[in-house]
Amino acid sequence: RILILDFGSQYTQLIARRVREIGVYCEIHSYDMSSDAIQAFNPKGIILSGSPESVNDHTVGYHAPEIVFQLSIPVLGICYGMQTMAAQLGGQVSGSSLREFGYAQIRARGHSALLRDIQDSTNEQGHGLLEVWMSHGDRVEQLPPNFICIASSDNAPIAAMADETRQFYGVQFHPEVTHTLQGKAILQRFVLDICQCEALWNANNIIEDSLIQIRQLVGKEAVLLALSGGVDSSVVAALLHRAIGEQLTCIFVDNGLLRLNEADQVMATFAQHLGVRVIKVDAQARFLSALAGVADPEEKRKIIGRLFIDIFEEQARQLNAIQWLAQGTIYPDVIESAGAKSGKAHVIKSHHNVGGLPERMQLKLIEPLRELFKDEVRQLGLTLGLPAEMVFRHPFPGPGLGVRILGEVREEYADILRRADAIFIEELHQSGWYSKVSQAFAVFLPVRSVGVMGDARRYDYVVALRAVETIDFMTARWAHLPYELLERVSNRIINEVNGISRVGYDISSKPPATIEWE
Ligand code: XMP
Repeated sequence: RILILDFGSQYTQLIARRVREIGVYCEIHSYDMSSDAIQAFNPKGIILSGSPESVNDHTVGYHAPEIVFQLSIPVLGICYGMQTMAAQLGGQVSGSSLREFGYAQIRARGHSALLRDIQDSTNEQGHGLLEVWMSHGDRVEQLPPNFICIASSDNAPIAAMADETRQFYGVQFHPEVTHTLQGKAILQRFVLDICQCEALWNANNIIEDSLIQIRQLVGKEAVLLALSGGVDSSVVAALLHRAIGEQLTCIFVDNGLLRLNEADQVMATFAQHLGVRVIKVDAQARFLSALAGVADPEEKRKIIGRLFIDIFEEQARQLNAIQWLAQGTIYPDVIESAGAKSGKAHVIKSHHNVGGLPERMQLKLIEPLRELFKDEVRQLGLTLGLPAEMVFRHPFPGPGLGVRILGEVREEYADILRRADAIFIEELHQSGWYSKVSQAFAVFLPVRSVGVMGDARRYDYVVALRAVETIDFMTARWAHLPYELLERVSNRIINEVNGISRVGYDISSKPPATIEWE
């Protein structure tokens, strides 16, 4: 396995995803990981990430632990990682007056083990040329002893360096981003050829490993899972069911704020198709009455979250002898929480429905997806036999339609919104746009607008359509859906859904708008 030491680059997660795509397990840890922990991790190679910081601004220990260079294993420094490697091993780094950001072409020199035969084209001298993505201010000015320069660009005479004997490599560019065309080939070269890792990390192996681990951990004890129908909890359910069968019980709460036919689909997939024991709780009326008269978004979120926990606990109490609570925490949640707590113990993100429950109910926590990225979770889901439409479903917030009905939530509004939303999603699927956008949905606006249908005047509600493209949901761009598609959706909604006279399309990006309207 590969250890990635993180210096805070926005691309660190991408490095990990690429390494895993290559088929090798890796973990991200903070750059100040202790020497003991690094040795215990027993990596076959180490990657030092980039960073927004400058090497020379940091006299105070913003560098790789010395042990990284003493373990006799290959090390790859990327951007800041290369600079700190250079500075720590006796080279020199300085601020460059020419910042490089974006595409650059580098010329590979000589025949380093890292770049040999990897190129996009060649120049007249026979040097390999590579299109790469640069993003740096500092650059390496002087190589450390025993290093050679293995690539140059116009602004970075030392764009890559190597000490072939010790197998230390540095690249000024970012091989982990897709803009670097040969990036994956370079990472593959490092991980498979130089570090000699085997490409064993794939869905089947992950499942086999997890089954063993889950069985060891749980033994004969009983596990409870809050099944939401979202990708993560669905994959946890399928995985646990395969591992421990009848020892798993799922609780699925229909809060009345789900999408059209969602509850039936979840029950059909899990209870009927996979044979998982699922307790379905019909709590629509309880949620609606708890939400009556409440218009404030945060207040609504709290009510929905609290009631969910009450119901979950009620149900759990009726079961006997549950020892474990399963949760669909995935690796980005772990990294994010660890980052937020600066490397200390992780906290579960507050929007996880069951956050805080394990302690309250005195249950042990099992999180079988803790090491996986979303794309790996999806792959696992498919391999475990979950339907593609479930596995590739857009994210849906815990409070559901509760935050997509602006202001007070009423059953009538939810029914109207569900139908409008289903039409939008159906048309997105039909046109091939569903998979091109990251999240799409309809929003109910409880204001009336005048329209005319046939000869009759209508005075009905408004829905807004929202579709965004995003990588991480932290920033998002509104999707430029074709006018014809929007037109068809609008016509169908107004014709087919009683109670709606007007459809708008949301052209706000995040920031400053958020993805959800509340
Ligand atoms: P915003 O609206 O904050 O949404 O731009 C970013 C992503 O988070 C989802 N979201 C939520 N998920 N509980 C959740 O489980 C919530 O209260 C919640 N609010 C927003 C949203 O759907 C989007 O994917």
